[in-house]
Amino acid sequence: MYDISKFSVKPEPIILGIESSCDETACAVLRGRKILSNRIISSASEQAKYGGVVPEIASRMHTEAVDEVCRLALADAGITPRDIDCVAATYGAGLLGALLVGLSFAKAFAYALNVPFVAVNHIRGHIAAAYLDQPDLKPPFIPLLASGGHTAILHTSSYTAFEVLAATSDDAAGEAFDKCARVLGLPYPGGPNVQRLAEGGKPAINFPSALVKNSPSLRFSYSGLKTAVINYCHNAQQRGEQFRAADVAASFQCAAIDPLVKKTVELATRYNVKTVTAGGGVIANDYLRATLSAACKKAGLTLVLPEKKYCTDNAAMIASEGLNQYMAGNFSPLNINAAAAIPLK
Ligand code: KG4
Ligand code: ZN
Repeated sequence: MYDISKFSVKPEPIILGIESSCDETACAVLRGRKILSNRIISSASEQAKYGGVVPEIASRMHTEAVDEVCRLALADAGITPRDIDCVAATYGAGLLGALLVGLSFAKAFAYALNVPFVAVNHIRGHIAAAYLDQPDLKPPFIPLLASGGHTAILHTSSYTAFEVLAATSDDAAGEAFDKCARVLGLPYPGGPNVQRLAEGGKPAINFPSALVKNSPSLRFSYSGLKTAVINYCHNAQQRGEQFRAADVAASFQCAAIDPLVKKTVELATRYNVKTVTAGGGVIANDYLRATLSAACKKAGLTLVLPEKKYCTDNAAMIASEGLNQYMAGNFSPLNINAAAAIPLK
């Protein structure tokens, strides 16, 4: 009989993490915070044919890949299923049909092994990527979170609690990168392609900043910036004028990223927190990494910047957040369902 009240917490547990919220089917094994394996099978090249993620294709490809990706992760880690102390999987936010594949697989795995299951909030997973980079990292710290679905600056007060200090009121930063790529005719995934194009351009165009001005609370907005980029390109095309796409990309990138960097450092200083961390796909952006590193250094803050492969979607970060919840004894019941949207807090 599977009974979550009977499970106990072991030190240095072996955690199997599974991620399937979008187009990556991923599985990783951690011993404590040590990464024993980290495998990803991506459907991105298939999705690129359609210019973005087609949910039905994502679900089907997860179904085909989930067994194989776990088999590979176990083999890389040199363990058998019987060595696993806990299974953790993303239950939201993401594409419902995609989430259900990894979640159902993980719940069945935990049931068969009779070990605790932890349902992981994907966003918390992105925050927990910082512990992979710095296993000794201890709260409090200020995470900058920027992905395809979320953009926020947080205050993490313990391994399981955080507060939202600033967030976007509309689109996420990654979404804006993807839209900017589309209007510039760049292929999916947009973010890395905008970055590459921006490297050869100058930030000469005055696009609106992603920081909302004259607001009582600290907020970001990416829909105005996105519309400004679309209008700039369409107006030039209608007038039959040439424009420098590299300058558009560079100007957009500065307007999207500079306020995130500036406000993260300001908030860390205001809250007297000495450590800044970062997570989410947009944190793989080289311009963001360089400007955030320089700003933290200047302000005397320690920056924990996970490797790029732990910023974009992966299962090691899900296992890392699984460990936070496991150590707190927060095991999930097996009837937990997938959720397309989960409030940030
Ligand atoms: O965290 P993630 O892999 O998936 C979500 O949870 O959304 O983030 C994906 C987002 C996409 O919008 C992608 O374009 C963006 O991260 N991204 C980047 C870069 N690499 C990925 N944006 C800007 N520059 C990059 N180098
Ligand atoms: Zn993500």
